Amino acid sequence: MDEHKIKELAASRAPFYEPGLEDLLREVQDTGRLSFTTDMSAAQGNSVHFVCVGTPQKKGENAADLTYVDAAISALLPFLSPGDVVVGKSTVPVGTAARLAGLVENKEPTAHLVWNPEFLREGHAVSDTLEPDRFVYGVSDGSEDHPAVSILDEVYAAPLSSGTPRLVTDHPTAELVKTAANSFLATKISFINAMAELCEAAGADVTSLADAIGMDDRIGRKFLNAGIGFGGGCLPKDIRAFMARAGELGADQALTFLREVDAINMRRRGRVVELTRDLCDGSLLGKRITVLGAAFKPESDDVRDSPALSIAAQLQLQGAVVSVTDPKAIENARRRFPELHYEPNTESSVQRADAILLLTEWNEYRGLDPYELSRHVTSPRILDGRNVLDAAKWRAAGWIYRGLGRP
Ligand code: UGA
Repeated sequence: MDEHKIKELAASRAPFYEPGLEDLLREVQDTGRLSFTTDMSAAQGNSVHFVCVGTPQKKGENAADLTYVDAAISALLPFLSPGDVVVGKSTVPVGTAARLAGLVENKEPTAHLVWNPEFLREGHAVSDTLEPDRFVYGVSDGSEDHPAVSILDEVYAAPLSSGTPRLVTDHPTAELVKTAANSFLATKISFINAMAELCEAAGADVTSLADAIGMDDRIGRKFLNAGIGFGGGCLPKDIRAFMARAGELGADQALTFLREVDAINMRRRGRVVELTRDLCDGSLLGKRITVLGAAFKPESDDVRDSPALSIAAQLQLQGAVVSVTDPKAIENARRRFPELHYEPNTESSVQRADAILLLTEWNEYRGLDPYELSRHVTSPRILDGRNVLDAAKWRAAGWIYRGLGRP
């Protein structure tokens, strides 16, 4: 829809930061097999159509906004030919695929709709796409023999031939796989953040706890990093939309635990503000605070529901003088939070700081030298919101170090 983005893509420029994406774009465009257009009639004569539009949270509600998916399918319908396959990638409330399949088949009875959820992570989009963990195909009859299955197998021939598993199921199960996976990941993060709250109360260390429970294969160490909580354009809105949909289906009790997952997650942000106040001798008023990281995670310039920016805004509201920096996300951050002050790099952002908050664990922040940094600040005090720094090393260099869920 967006002419500007399409022009940028045609010139092999990605409209957002994603490692390796521009190289891949250039490589494929050089083969002449990839082109971009806003003209829907380009779909005419093609046999596989991917619908990859967003499903954000509705304004003022928990439910997902399906406007873009509905618009994309309606725009595609006039150009469908017999036997075409429409592939839905968007994260949707269960029941959407069956409804859309009705629209597709009504227009072209021999066309098929496959629900094929996307599992890539921002910051790892290229490798997750080329080497995914699994494929899930949701087809109307849930059968391996469905005609769309072999067509999609051809599309994914390379990863399938190198052993990527694929599971064929029905439409609602495929839709649920996606929301269940994201809900599980969110639950895992909130679980460890709840343990961080307990560790703080008991004087224990959540990072050692995570290492130890993670050594049990049944639990696993991944996604057990306690810190300022999850953000981004997926986990927060997906668990809320999932609860809203469960309510519509009369199954809301099944997901009430996700309300707690969300609550634990949001509590982390308040906890960081509290700890920062402690770190600043009980008052934030007029204190110069540096926030390292604005993106919701490293290797991304995405600031949607970024916990770092939400914390920065709360600190500023409470009277602190906040300075935010990030290697890639400053422009996006400025658009969302124009009231915050931004600095182009770490060195400029830490000048005369009373406290530094590491809130997004970019590699350049993990590698900071405490001795060098202390030359620029007023008080060597650091809050490690992602528990990625070596506490002993920072303390030895004269810093007051605070982690989350750590003594
Ligand atoms: C998430 C899922 O991981 C993908 O599988 C899914 O495809 C995607 O949503 C989607 O639905 O499109 P993404 O939002 O890109 O991917 O990022 P994650 O790596 O899941 O991180 C989400 C948030 O959790 C970040 O704010 C991150 O900092 C936080 N996190 C992650 C933690 O706080 N602790 C952890 O241990 C892991």
